[in-house]
Amino acid sequence: MKIAIVGTGYVGLVSSACFAELGHEVIGVDIDEAKVKMLKSGKSPIYEPELEEIIQRNLASGRLSFTTELSEAMPGAQVIFSAVATPPNADFSADLRAVFTVAQSVAEHAENDLIFVNKSTVPVGTGKKCEDLIIETLRKREVPHRIPVISNPEFLREGNAVHDTMQPDRIVVGLNGDAHAKQVMEEIYQPLTRVGKPLLFMTRESAEIVKYASNAFLASKISFINMISELCETTGGSVREVAAGMGLDDRIGPRFLHAGIGYGGSCFPKDVKALIALSKQTGVPLPLVKATHDMNNRQRQRFFKKILGTLPPNANVAIWGLSFKPKTDDLREAPSLDLIPMLTRAGHKVSVHDPVSMEKAKAILKKKVTYAQSPMEAAKEADAVILLTEWDAFRGVDLRKLKETMRGKELFDGRNVYEPAEVRDAGLTYWGVGVR
Ligand SMILES: NC(=O)c1ccc[n+]([C@@H]2O[C@H](COP(=O)([O-])OP(=O)(O)OC[C@H]3O[C@@H](n4cnc5c(N)ncnc54)[C@H](O)[C@@H]3O)[C@@H](O)[C@H]2O)c1
Repeated sequence: MKIAIVGTGYVGLVSSACFAELGHEVIGVDIDEAKVKMLKSGKSPIYEPELEEIIQRNLASGRLSFTTELSEAMPGAQVIFSAVATPPNADFSADLRAVFTVAQSVAEHAENDLIFVNKSTVPVGTGKKCEDLIIETLRKREVPHRIPVISNPEFLREGNAVHDTMQPDRIVVGLNGDAHAKQVMEEIYQPLTRVGKPLLFMTRESAEIVKYASNAFLASKISFINMISELCETTGGSVREVAAGMGLDDRIGPRFLHAGIGYGGSCFPKDVKALIALSKQTGVPLPLVKATHDMNNRQRQRFFKKILGTLPPNANVAIWGLSFKPKTDDLREAPSLDLIPMLTRAGHKVSVHDPVSMEKAKAILKKKVTYAQSPMEAAKEADAVILLTEWDAFRGVDLRKLKETMRGKELFDGRNVYEPAEVRDAGLTYWGVGVR
């Protein structure tokens, strides 16, 4: 089937490459000319394991192509996916301008019946608004085309995006009774349903809510264990032991029970915020969502306060890890971008190392920090090392060598990756989250 995917970011690009890999003919559309130029030459503008190989293979086979022009992508396409960003506005609501722009452009360029599939994370009711906009645009053009709007939220995790797209836990499709659209979506996902992946049909409103409810639930699990970590710090427990004791309960499970400096990234913070905004708009209280957000801020600030309260004046500080989590170069809402300006404003000198996101970081942090080629280079003559992202490269460092490399001995472990006793044996002072 010929598919057009508008927006070739973390979601749209992975979907484009994977749909092509599954045998569809895919054209990715993006307004970012530099991105499209890179993609046409077989280079991925984002770091995502396995992605570049799939792009190159499918460009070569002719099943995948890219353009900056929606009008070029639409002829022959039966389905248009929209995967544009929905970042938070200042009032926490989701900025839906890109979604509406795409819906309107699709209606302006349509030459036949189509299906518009919204893959972006959008508040409940957005599908209806897109549909109204499309109907109005088609009416003004005086053309008879039908373009139903379907919700197909995306659940991939950055760093595992290809795997999650090829092996999804579930595929959710929300539509309000359009039999043809249902059949087309079944056909698109047939390569996955054939190998047993569940395809769930539900109303468009339910599908829109599933996405926010899933992210808010996961974020609340993180905030819950972070809340318990503070209790552990004050009373003498270890949050690792508590999490191990909780996680073996089948009803709870061990995942998302790792205390740390809180969640970041382009999804959890913004989706939790969007639900808070939706609570205000609808009058539905959603108190757990607000508590999840507040707890996340509190956890980050508590850790930063410990760091700033411990450093000597004009300290040398090494930051290990800039991306919001390992295996991605995504810096959106990363703790590093919060902490580094605090450190530099306080007069400290900061040296950073990250295995993949240094180039992206340079565009944001510019000359405010020094960029080190290795963890040890960053730690040279440092008073403190602060681990913010649990990349494997940081887990295995020789702690005794680290002690010799540093001039001070503070090790702040924002992700609880080290054994406190091992750190102390190496002559360093350990600062973890909810552990001693
Ligand atoms: N990143 C994730 O892990 C993830 C996971 C699940 C769902 N989502 C959701 O998917 C959506 C996209 O997220 P993302 O991380 O891929 O965003 P992104 O910022 O990486 O990509 C969005 C892309 O859309 C392009 N774009 C914007 N307006 C356009 C237009 N009018 N026409 C064509 N292209 C346009 C941008 O240039 C950009 O390349 C968001 O709603 C997000 O919440 C993201």
